[in-house]
Amino acid sequence: MVNWSTFVTPTILRRTWNGKCKILSLTVTFLTCGYLTLFVIPVRNVILSSVIEYGWRDMETSDLIRIHFCQDKEPEGILSSTSCPVLHKPQVNVSDIITSSLVSHDHLLFPEVQRRVLEKGHGRFLPALNLTQKVEILLLYKVAAAALESVGVQHFLVDGSLLGLSRHGGFVPWDDDLDVSVFLDSWHLVKKALSCIEGFTLYKPHFAHWKFHYKDRLYPFLDIFFYMLDESYVWAASYYTRITYIYPKRFVFPLGESIFEGMKVPVPKDSLSIARRIYEYDLCFAYRGHLKHEASGSEDKGYSISNVSCQELSYMYRFY
Ligand SMILES: *[C@@H]1O[C@H](CO)[C@@H](O)[C@H](O)[C@H]1NC(C)=O
Ligand SMILES: *[C@@H]1O[C@H](CO)[C@@H](O)[C@H](O)[C@H]1NC(C)=O
Ligand SMILES: *[C@@H]1O[C@H](CO)[C@@H](O)[C@H](O)[C@H]1NC(C)=O
Repeated sequence: MVNWSTFVTPTILRRTWNGKCKILSLTVTFLTCGYLTLFVIPVRNVILSSVIEYGWRDMETSDLIRIHFCQDKEPEGILSSTSCPVLHKPQVNVSDIITSSLVSHDHLLFPEVQRRVLEKGHGRFLPALNLTQKVEILLLYKVAAAALESVGVQHFLVDGSLLGLSRHGGFVPWDDDLDVSVFLDSWHLVKKALSCIEGFTLYKPHFAHWKFHYKDRLYPFLDIFFYMLDESYVWAASYYTRITYIYPKRFVFPLGESIFEGMKVPVPKDSLSIARRIYEYDLCFAYRGHLKHEASGSEDKGYSISNVSCQELSYMYRFY
């Protein structure tokens, strides 16, 4: 059998064709891999598992790129200071906060429980706040919430506070802050409402992340994040929290109401779904160096474990 192509195609041409074939197949392989990596979501998530955070896992890559890498546009004048011709009295009722519904951790004072904590290395999961501190933060929140309401700005709980709300009915016990979010477009109202309250200060370290605290000290504070939104997502305007704070819009609006440490608070419509989406819900996780105890404490003083199945902490806390 004569192979006509060897006669018809000069050697030099055949070589070029083979070379082209290789380039072509390499290109196809490269594009296919790239496509799989980026656009077939389960494959993408496995490949990017070290950089991809929980909140992103079910998002289309195009949405993810569009939102995560979108330019942060800082509204003009947002960080300028505010003059306060009059200081308003805070509109709160402390008796609303100090109720029997505050989540109590008194049983952790029993010696047998403390011994168990030490034995198991669960020191990092001890409560971060004592009752006084907890009430101080809740009071900050109440003052801010009332001021925001007075200017018609809606807010809702976000991030770790949603995890705490769903899993613990209040703060994550070994955590020490409260996070709320307001719409970026209402920044001027937020500023006006929170800047001129007697005894309190608004601190603005980043245009999209403010802190509301007592005039004489920075801690404790209420974290105020700004959000932006489109027709399908709600996300933090501050890029550094966007990893955990990109929520499907249908999970957020219309807002709902829930009970946090005995206090009525506005929350995303489906806060449990959000908490499950952005955190490993059943894994109790404490960051290293997160608690003050650790500064002096050492690993052998019961602070060795940083993450456990929450079930293992059921002798310390009640989970919901
Ligand atoms: C504070 O709240 C309590 C209980 O809801 C109520 O009885 C009391 O009148 C309130 N006080 C003020 C100053 O609003
Ligand atoms: C609560 O903790 C703070 C800060 O560690 C401390 O100054 C305060 O005395 C504590 N209050 C109580 C009642 O233990
Ligand atoms: C979670 O705990 C395991 C075992 O205690 C430990 O090896 C691992 O490093 C922890 N993970 C993180 C992210 O701290």
